[in-house]
Amino acid sequence: MTEDLKTASRRQVLAGAAGIGLAAATLSATGAHAQEQAGGAFAGKTAFITGGARGIGLACAEELAKGGANVVLYDIAAQPAEIPYPMATEEDLANAKATVESHGVKCLAIKGDVRDFDALQAAVAQTQSEFGSLDFLIVNAGITQPGRLGGFDEEQVRTITDINLIGSINTMQAAMPMMQEQGSGRIILMASTTGRAGSDNFPLYGATKWAMIGLAKSAALTVAPLNITVNAVCPTLVRTKLLDNEYVLNALAPGQGVTFEQFDALANQQIHPMDVGFYEPVEVGRTVAFLCGDGAQFISGEVVDIGAAANARFPA
Ligand SMILES: NC(=O)c1ccc[n+]([C@@H]2O[C@H](COP(=O)([O-])OP(=O)(O)OC[C@H]3O[C@@H](n4cnc5c(N)ncnc54)[C@H](O)[C@@H]3O)[C@@H](O)[C@H]2O)c1
Repeated sequence: MTEDLKTASRRQVLAGAAGIGLAAATLSATGAHAQEQAGGAFAGKTAFITGGARGIGLACAEELAKGGANVVLYDIAAQPAEIPYPMATEEDLANAKATVESHGVKCLAIKGDVRDFDALQAAVAQTQSEFGSLDFLIVNAGITQPGRLGGFDEEQVRTITDINLIGSINTMQAAMPMMQEQGSGRIILMASTTGRAGSDNFPLYGATKWAMIGLAKSAALTVAPLNITVNAVCPTLVRTKLLDNEYVLNALAPGQGVTFEQFDALANQQIHPMDVGFYEPVEVGRTVAFLCGDGAQFISGEVVDIGAAANARFPA
């Protein structure tokens, strides 16, 4: 990056990144998988993951599958006209299923929109008939929407609210009765560090993430007597297609041709006190697996930030 571009883009990109966040390869040998699965902490359990065809959702699926959990991936796997950057494809969903199965577990891939409550209910019913339980609910499907308040049209407002917030509510409403009936479970909502501080460049996205934290805390109270835990996880900047796409990069630094690599370097230099820019989705997957494990039995109603020390700047 030239010095000029660095200075000019830093201000804008950082404003975006600050909005995003002031806030591994998964090595595996087939033999190791068989071992992990046979004695895995999650053997016999089932995970239901929305937005599981790629990115963070798929990383969560892999970490739970490594522990022996069977997985249901529920993903839109299509490109609605109202979403301005690429969603996962049917091929991504099929590949994700194969990746999960490579860990020696079963995987059901279901194409569906979290805005469609009936489809979610049908997917939960299918989960019950295939696997008999729904132990881990990862409420992960979401989209981003850069821009400034005052500049969004009604469709943009509705799209992000319907997917990120109403979609999360739909997912919980569809899955919670099954968990409540079985009297156990772990629910994790994929919020964001934009849900922990104001965000000038992602105000709608941030608002949906603040709301998801509220939803997690309320649900934690509702299901606490059943020993079901509910937590929100807040990543900062993760290497996925949510931010690594032309639409978002151009919205953050209009006309400047800022690349994802430049954004990554700025994240490392300016946002994360730890020596990392965009970190890998597996880092979020590991946190989710911890929250699903025995070590997190009494952790509920919490917000778990994965901020590479950026959140040390926040009030407690
Ligand atoms: N990438 C980051 O830096 C970051 C940071 C904090 C939080 N998050 C959150 O993590 C979650 C996953 O994001 P990601 O980074 O993996 O992005 P991603 O775009 O790679 O993955 C999102 C997945 O959700 C699916 N999806 C989108 N709309 C859907 C709908 N209506 N119904 C069903 N599926 C739908 C997409 O097809 C895609 O597979 C999101 O909720 C996001 O807000 C991401």
